[in-house]
Amino acid sequence: MTPSRDPNQVLIFDTTLRDGEQSPGISLTPQEKLEIAQQLARLGVDVIEAGFPIASPGDFEAVQLIARQVDGPIITGLARAQFPDIERAAEAIQDAPARRIHTFLSTSDIHIKHQMQNTREDVLGMTRAAVAHAKSFVEDVEFSPMDATRSDVEFTAEVLKIAIAEGATTINIPDTVGYTLPHEYAAFLTRLYELVPELADVVLSVHCHDDLGLAVANSLSGIQAGARQVECAVNGIGERAGNTSLEEVIMLLDTRRNELGLHTQAVTREIARTSRIVSRLTGYPVQPNKAIVGANAFAHESGIHQDGVLKDRSTFEIMDAESIGLDSNHLVLGKHSGRHALKDALSEMGIEVDGQALNTAFKRFKEIADKKKQVTAMDLEALVTDELREGEDDFSLEFFDVDASSARPPFAKVGIRNPEGQVLEGSFTGDGPIDAVFRAIAAATGVDAKLREFRIGAVTGGDDALGETSVVLEIDAATGAGQALSTDIIDAAARAYVRALSTALRRARVVAEDVATP
Ligand code: KIV
Ligand code: ZN
Repeated sequence: MTPSRDPNQVLIFDTTLRDGEQSPGISLTPQEKLEIAQQLARLGVDVIEAGFPIASPGDFEAVQLIARQVDGPIITGLARAQFPDIERAAEAIQDAPARRIHTFLSTSDIHIKHQMQNTREDVLGMTRAAVAHAKSFVEDVEFSPMDATRSDVEFTAEVLKIAIAEGATTINIPDTVGYTLPHEYAAFLTRLYELVPELADVVLSVHCHDDLGLAVANSLSGIQAGARQVECAVNGIGERAGNTSLEEVIMLLDTRRNELGLHTQAVTREIARTSRIVSRLTGYPVQPNKAIVGANAFAHESGIHQDGVLKDRSTFEIMDAESIGLDSNHLVLGKHSGRHALKDALSEMGIEVDGQALNTAFKRFKEIADKKKQVTAMDLEALVTDELREGEDDFSLEFFDVDASSARPPFAKVGIRNPEGQVLEGSFTGDGPIDAVFRAIAAATGVDAKLREFRIGAVTGGDDALGETSVVLEIDAATGAGQALSTDIIDAAARAYVRALSTALRRARVVAEDVATP
């Protein structure tokens, strides 16, 4: 580690927008990625891996937008150990006040032989060239030997020596396939420290996948072996079973700080909000019993537990709900609240809006406040996220009309504005009012999409809670997710469907272009 760093500080490297976004069905727009990155900055993460710039123009645009607009964390872009990737990453992050290039290649014989189809000799040469090239653009370079935990430790050490000699400042050891066990991972890192004494001069990082449910345990084991950066994703999203869960790592280091003697600079009170925003924008729900951010994580069901907690919280609680920001709902606005009150409330939540954005937010707030007794911080947060999507979609809902009764099948009529600005009308009957609306939208647009998922939830409790819907559609093997918010659940469902349709069609076009490109 660099001598100037606090040896007990563990850096939080968030990869929600890169590895996390590689979860099936997630397709965030650059604007949505920016909103998540801004929230990650409020949470106080040290590094944001904003994307893989060479992967697509959308990825590049998102990384560039975040590099230009998010202040605080180091912004990094991923690049294979190839010059075009590194140059594209360098271009995407160049406007960030603090920037890093993260370059990687595989070191396991399985990957070298079957995936990269080259030799160990080639890997040594590619590492040297890639790190040197990245270093010509930025001072801060991270290097990852992919599939490290299934690689020969002596060969990995040889590769790392080259990466450090060429100027890598962070060395990350990925358990790419989520195979390692905590004691094996610690032993692997300990052996690397012995074989590569230079590792003491850089930051050692851990990057674990959750295929065996061990990502957090392995990350902790790596930290105890000397690593001082953890790569993780909000709600543990990511490839296959996901990545190390950011909130679990932060809260385990915080809750057991006396035992571990380590700390992060994360603002733990922003955890609950970060989790909700990521869940809402990705369309990935959080399981109720998920550690830290699940709906039941602080609920006590059994009589004995409830009794104990009422007498003294410490009987059955190891951390406070307040410490992750679950009490932030105290902020309340009513239907007579004005523009200033809304602006101040949003500002208290760390969201600054002015001019046209404030007018739009205020108009939407008034619509909701007219129907709800009280508008809470959680409602405002959902509203701001919902507003973000407006105007980004190719199709939009103009109107719907549903005739539902128990005597006959529900009948729906809808008007959908297409990208050319025409309003297309369609009508259909269905098994229920929402089914009828979905079929009517398909009839209006002429797009036959498969409904993969449909979820309805409530933003807060209470009989006037805002309804939140999420729809995932599939068109020609491309999936697209859409979310929407309304006091009327049919309106929320219809708007989520139309958004999912726009996203799935966009993705289907990209897939078709990729196939057509030689
Ligand atoms: O899991 C992995 O190996 C990765 C690398 C690109 C760091 O995500
Ligand atoms: Zn990974």
